[in-house]
Amino acid sequence: MRRVPTKALLPGMKVSHPIYNGRGEILLNRGVILNQKYIESLSKLGIPVIYIFDEDLPDLYVEDVIDERTRIAAINTTKKILKNPNSSKSPLNWSLLREARNTINEIIEQLIENRSLMVNMIDMRSFDDYLFAHSVNVCVLSLITGLSLGYDRYKLMNLGMGALMHDMGKTLIPAQILNKPGPLNESEFNVVKQHPEYGYTILTSTDSSYIKKTSALVALQHHERYNGEGYPKGLDGDGIHEFSQIVGMADVYDAMTVDRVYRRAHPPNEAYEMLAGSGDFFFNYKLVQYFLKNIAAYPAGSIVKLSSGETAAVMETPKGFSLYPRIKVLYDAEGNKLAEPVDIDMAKQNTITIVKVLEHEEIEALKQKSRG
Ligand SMILES: [Fe+2]
Repeated sequence: MRRVPTKALLPGMKVSHPIYNGRGEILLNRGVILNQKYIESLSKLGIPVIYIFDEDLPDLYVEDVIDERTRIAAINTTKKILKNPNSSKSPLNWSLLREARNTINEIIEQLIENRSLMVNMIDMRSFDDYLFAHSVNVCVLSLITGLSLGYDRYKLMNLGMGALMHDMGKTLIPAQILNKPGPLNESEFNVVKQHPEYGYTILTSTDSSYIKKTSALVALQHHERYNGEGYPKGLDGDGIHEFSQIVGMADVYDAMTVDRVYRRAHPPNEAYEMLAGSGDFFFNYKLVQYFLKNIAAYPAGSIVKLSSGETAAVMETPKGFSLYPRIKVLYDAEGNKLAEPVDIDMAKQNTITIVKVLEHEEIEALKQKSRG
């Protein structure tokens, strides 16, 4: 199994992980052989990358920290909340907020159940669903951090509500600015920068006891930074509420690992390193550590080059060992396929390191070479 960018897909390739549309229906199931028509519709939907079978690589199934059904239900709930046409004038309605709470409860249950799993950031979202899928990712990443910090259910719920609705204010930003296929100019950026305050206003004008002050603060403060260089108020240090700092980290991490129209995603290991380097600079150092504990820097299925020159597939990352996955060495330093793959637990040895994550083209080149 490996990830292949949609633009590099070829007819005849076989799908290894089901692909869903925004309504949660299966678009292409595991085992489907791609044809031109399927490839075109994937690209029309803006799905940047999918998993395909590869007979030269291990077939593994990446287990997510929450199941697909829950993720899709959460995306749909978020869609209703962020698309609520009345959200600018009247408060969010009570039944929607109750639905959000149920969704968050379900996510918390699954995170507790799957406590031994790491987050393997795999981005297969379609462009249309960006804001909704992003909000759900931020919610999951924030809650997993809250669990590591030992939060009780009450705190988790309020953190989760803030995380899910952190970008509520974006519903009041003109779509042509929000969806602009390129970097924003200064005046456009100034408009976007108003979304934290808009979000706070919407959430605090909701007279429902379902939204606590700390959740509304997340909407207001998630772009504030530890060193005081954030917005809208330029708050610094722990003057920024802990929930807001957690959601701010999750927001940055998720946004980095996503392909946007105008730039390629940072590979998860780079996003990991960048966040690791942001302690006490953008975010409180302790919170960064709790966040990263749950993240696999090299998601399962990544193909990596080792310091020995060999090439290996990442199989899984044990909890708490973000940078030290279990791997299977497949090719020797000369690019010859090993007759028998070799298993290595990176956490239990200190002679070999991962030097690079291979891109699609590099994997293709390696396979060509090994076939002679
Ligand atoms: Fe935001």
